[in-house]
Amino acid sequence: MLQLKNIGLLSTYNSTTGSFENIKNCNIDIENDIIIDIGENNNNGDHMIDCNQKLVTPGFVDAHTHPVFKNGREKEFIQRISGKSYEEIAAKGGGINSSIEEVRESTEIELLDHVKKRMDEFLSMGTTTIEAKTGYGLDTESELKSLRVLDHVHNNHKIDIFPTFLGAHSIPDEFNGDSNAYVDLLCNEMIPAVSEQGIAKFCDVFCEEGYFDLKESRKILKTAIEYDLVPRIHADEFSNIGGSKLASEVKAISADHLMEISDEDIELLSNSDTIAILLPGTTFFLGKEKYAPARKLIDRGVHIAIASDFNPGSCHIKSMPFIIGLSCIYLGLSVKEALKATTWSAACAINEEERIGSIELGKKADLIIWDLDTIEQIPYNITSPPIRNVIKNGDPLISLD
Ligand code: NIG
Ligand code: FE
Repeated sequence: MLQLKNIGLLSTYNSTTGSFENIKNCNIDIENDIIIDIGENNNNGDHMIDCNQKLVTPGFVDAHTHPVFKNGREKEFIQRISGKSYEEIAAKGGGINSSIEEVRESTEIELLDHVKKRMDEFLSMGTTTIEAKTGYGLDTESELKSLRVLDHVHNNHKIDIFPTFLGAHSIPDEFNGDSNAYVDLLCNEMIPAVSEQGIAKFCDVFCEEGYFDLKESRKILKTAIEYDLVPRIHADEFSNIGGSKLASEVKAISADHLMEISDEDIELLSNSDTIAILLPGTTFFLGKEKYAPARKLIDRGVHIAIASDFNPGSCHIKSMPFIIGLSCIYLGLSVKEALKATTWSAACAINEEERIGSIELGKKADLIIWDLDTIEQIPYNITSPPIRNVIKNGDPLISLD
């Protein structure tokens, strides 16, 4: 048994009471990968970690990432700081489509190497579970290859990965001007093959002007549902073409981005079980001003989660503490709300709230031991809040010997 002893403050959402809780001066006992006791200071356990009266929180769950690509696109970053917009750069041959060729040409081993390194960084910053999308292959073979890479990393890396098929990320150049043919390929060949392969849990669509329109997005997600993939959707990111309406129509598990969501659509989401995943890193990284209306969403009763959107184009940010900082500064969230949104609510957004996302008896021991005293010090130290150790599946990242 592993014991985390001498915890100064344990901060977590509690799913039984439905509120955020702070427990002072306690221990956590862990058997294998499960939390079996949270209690008073008592010394037992074959292995002990002294938390020196510091803060312990759940590990972060990042419910929206795009990590299966080869090289970064820093050239676009330079173009943007010289005044070009994401949309202009994409229209001139940059954007998602410029990452496709490299993924198609890469071997599985090459891609694995890139994805593994990225996961090392996520884990070192406290992300213990991640949703990860494909979407830089955009043909059947390369999308299946991307999913195999995610599965391999999931099985051989401490981090847990929940894969999403995002073949509908963009219309690849060979289908330029014939989006119908690509949607047919997605529905008739790619989704059935992905379902047969059995790795992806979710299917996502980039429902956006210049990518997949409402009708195409609906067709893709309805086909995905027939093949037992859970739908989620990139909605209302640059324009509102009905993405979040579609999310509530198809009962998507999440509607993500939502910078351009309307009041009417907020109403629809509030009457649905769809979780709004907000991605403030994207607005920030693109140098834009318009953030998703987080307060309005919360006030109308929409369940929100916060994620990184890590990808090579619009948001090259992995750090969840930094994203929490942005959520407090630009989305108007309290630190407790931001912490709940990146742990418990994010676990709900990947259907894993029974196992992860909070520190409760019977849950997986995915924890962060901070060199901090309070949760407020996380966004206050926005670029580098010190982490003493990350416990994943009951196993310390920094070994005890
Ligand atoms: O979530 N919106 C679509 N996909 C990403 C951007 C991906 C890229 O630029 O490579 C996003 O912002
Ligand atoms: Fe995204």
